[in-house]
Amino acid sequence: MAEKNSSGISGFHKLSVTERVDYISEKHGMTSEETAMLRTGGGLSMSQADKMTENVFTTINLPVGVVPKFSVNGKEHDVPMALEEPSVIAAVCKIRNIANIHGGFKASTTGSIMEGHVQITDIPDLNKAISSILDHKDELLSIANSKDPKLVSVGGGAKNIGIDVIKTPTQEMLAVRFLVDCKDAMGANAVNGMAETIAPKLKELTGGKCGVRILSNLATGRLARASATFDKDALGGKEVVKGIINAYEFADSYIQRGATHNKGIMNGIDAVAIALMQDWRALEAGAHSYAAFGRRYGSLTKYSIDMDGNLVGSIEMPMAVGTVGGSMNAHPMSKLLYKMIDVNGASELAEVIAAVGLAQNLGALRALVDEGISKGHMILHERKAEINNVLRKNENTA
Ligand code: MEV
Repeated sequence: MAEKNSSGISGFHKLSVTERVDYISEKHGMTSEETAMLRTGGGLSMSQADKMTENVFTTINLPVGVVPKFSVNGKEHDVPMALEEPSVIAAVCKIRNIANIHGGFKASTTGSIMEGHVQITDIPDLNKAISSILDHKDELLSIANSKDPKLVSVGGGAKNIGIDVIKTPTQEMLAVRFLVDCKDAMGANAVNGMAETIAPKLKELTGGKCGVRILSNLATGRLARASATFDKDALGGKEVVKGIINAYEFADSYIQRGATHNKGIMNGIDAVAIALMQDWRALEAGAHSYAAFGRRYGSLTKYSIDMDGNLVGSIEMPMAVGTVGGSMNAHPMSKLLYKMIDVNGASELAEVIAAVGLAQNLGALRALVDEGISKGHMILHERKAEINNVLRKNENTA
């Protein structure tokens, strides 16, 4: 690869597409079939696509870029990102270099607990219903677990039950919450199945009517956290650091800005999620609801300045991703991209994705408080215009 910069990362962006595939293929020991799939893109046959959703008549390609050697907890990952927007991958690469000066990203997760709920309305005696549910907690858990013996066999399954009384403008109802350890699965199917399975028993115990039975995307039992120290000089100096703090406080206190600030975070997170066929809509729902969880809507990231004047950044948000089951293993290309990110299960994947979200956010803030966002975007838009010209020329000569 070309020359190395101060943080030891080679000039990957200067390689040709062919050379980039050579790098990924050699580094991750890909077979000749796998390498051929990377070179041609796609990977999903029409018949595979037809099994994934309804009324399929075609598929669509997205560019997949890579953030090479993205260091999280001292381990380097080649992170695939699928998206059409320019500047996002470049921003993560730039912040990766700055984070590396002080040891890269540190990340952790709080567990793999997903939550489902059963809504119960029209309850004749609310207090009696609550006692009755709590008295039958073990029985309810074992009914739920009977739905997914495979998850139980790997140490997962329904672990606890809680109850929330919900006061709506017209009535009081119950949300019976049950917490499910989903291990390496994202868990939506498992949790939804369990919610439906325990509903008849809840109806019997409460004398009420069971309504909605579904998982919650506000996965507070499955948070991912990432943090890093960013060198003040590499960021552009004291003024830029102060500007970033101001921008963060602005986002955290003003929802009009907070929405866009968090959108930038999701630019990074969704792009990895899409490359790996994760349910990025679930991640979006989790992110934005968590940004308003127990407080007014604010930033998913936090920033402060340490004693040396460097910027310390962190992120915390629900990260419901899975590495067993799900669409990732059904899609030949995402299965291959999972190989190159080199993570060991859902928790490590969640940690890497959270760190990408933080990097993306800081990349956007740094540009916003310094040269502005348009410069980088415009260079890449010009490249897109060039592509359009070539396409138009081809059409005219066809
Ligand atoms: C654009 O897709 C994302 C940004 O607007 C994020 C931000 O404003 O922080 C640049």
